[in-house]
Amino acid sequence: MSLEAPSRSSTNPLRKIATDVRYERSARVPLPPGDTSYSLARGRRFVASPLDELLSAYRRYGPIFTLRLLHAPVVYMLGPEANHYITVSHAHNFRWREGSLRDLIPLLGDGLLTTDGEVHKRARRLMLPAFHRESIAASLSTMVEETELALEGWRPGRQVDLYEWARHLALRIAMRALFGFDRDADRDRGDPALEFDEALSYYSHDLLVQQFRGPGSPWHRMLARRRSLDALIYGEIARRRRNGGDAGTDVLSLLLKSRGEDGDALTDAQVRDQVMTLLFAGHDTTTSTISFLFHELARHPAALARVLEEQDRALRGGAPTAEELVGGLPELEMAIDETLRLYPAAWVGPRRAVADFEFAGHTVPAGALVNYCSWASHRLPEVFPDPEAFRPERFSPEARGSSPRAPTSRLEGVRGSAWGCGSGSSRSR
Ligand code: HEM
Repeated sequence: MSLEAPSRSSTNPLRKIATDVRYERSARVPLPPGDTSYSLARGRRFVASPLDELLSAYRRYGPIFTLRLLHAPVVYMLGPEANHYITVSHAHNFRWREGSLRDLIPLLGDGLLTTDGEVHKRARRLMLPAFHRESIAASLSTMVEETELALEGWRPGRQVDLYEWARHLALRIAMRALFGFDRDADRDRGDPALEFDEALSYYSHDLLVQQFRGPGSPWHRMLARRRSLDALIYGEIARRRRNGGDAGTDVLSLLLKSRGEDGDALTDAQVRDQVMTLLFAGHDTTTSTISFLFHELARHPAALARVLEEQDRALRGGAPTAEELVGGLPELEMAIDETLRLYPAAWVGPRRAVADFEFAGHTVPAGALVNYCSWASHRLPEVFPDPEAFRPERFSPEARGSSPRAPTSRLEGVRGSAWGCGSGSSRSR
């Protein structure tokens, strides 16, 4: 028995604008205070530096405020209580699919990032086995192999574009760990990493340019890339089904084999959407985190020395085991935590409110676009003193023990927690 599909979502830009206007007009309670006039200049400033815009609004309005960006008013909620409210205590009152993540549907389809409710819960249940510790540990050898390969060209004094290097590495690991696709061994099947990258570049275009349709438009190019990626993924699914689902340990195999209590399984289209979603959610996030970690350690020799000393002592020149990676390298973990605090890869959590609600003394109408923002929340001085400073020791067991924490910020059941994602709620005290 296959899973039901979520409600259809229009990719037509005019329809999306009409939906936002309809929600705004049907509001029964006022939006929180903020900068709500129509202003292209504000939109441009926000695109250029969202952090400055958000922190300035926070200083003027407090932890909840409204910014009109292009046609739509967007409610921002900042701080640990806000993160906890949206991702834990009132998560049921927020939809992912109807927030700005809806723009990803043309490429990613109906995966975990773009679905809600029962559809999401059932898919997530079927996918969890692929993320059990043993499954992750099974792909450790792939990660080590690919990393050693990628380090081969490094020589003292040689310049490396770290972001490009990390992105290439993350995509190769994702392709192998997710699809079991080894670019060197499977050359005759093109380069899905490149295809995916080019498809994703659609979202790097200005919002206005993204609306253009027709030959030569970024939209048209994205669809062409999507078609060739689909041909590859569906070809691979068909090959594995013909081989009776094969005994691979990659995520694709595990998703094809996964069955729910009542025998429900993912259809080919659902497997495709989930694998594309994991590729999207997993590669850019790890790429930017690795790049910023190197950036900060290069600027903080004392922190770097502690991390290197720990690795020499714990790993003695060898590659880490899965056990050593979980708790065995505390200096490295604190440096990663502090990097994720300063540069949270998924810097905003976009949603749409289901019902009217009240937060910090202000009402928010049903249908409003509501975002939490880890990037801004992690730089509130009353939460992280001297927030611009890179201080891994903020995450030492003692510091964690003594810091004020968001009420009951337990992660169980929090979306994203099962994948070990460093969501805002787990990082914001
Ligand atoms: C440094 C690396 C990563 C960071 C910082 C990160 C961060 C996040 C955050 C903040 C969310 C919640 C987003 C929201 O509330 O709107 C999330 C969700 C998610 N992430 Fe990650 N992530 C990382 C790596 C990965 C990887 C490697 C994968 C998969 C291979 C992944 C798969 C997902 C999925 C599937 C969701 C949605 C979960 C759900 O709906 O239940 N992430 N991630």
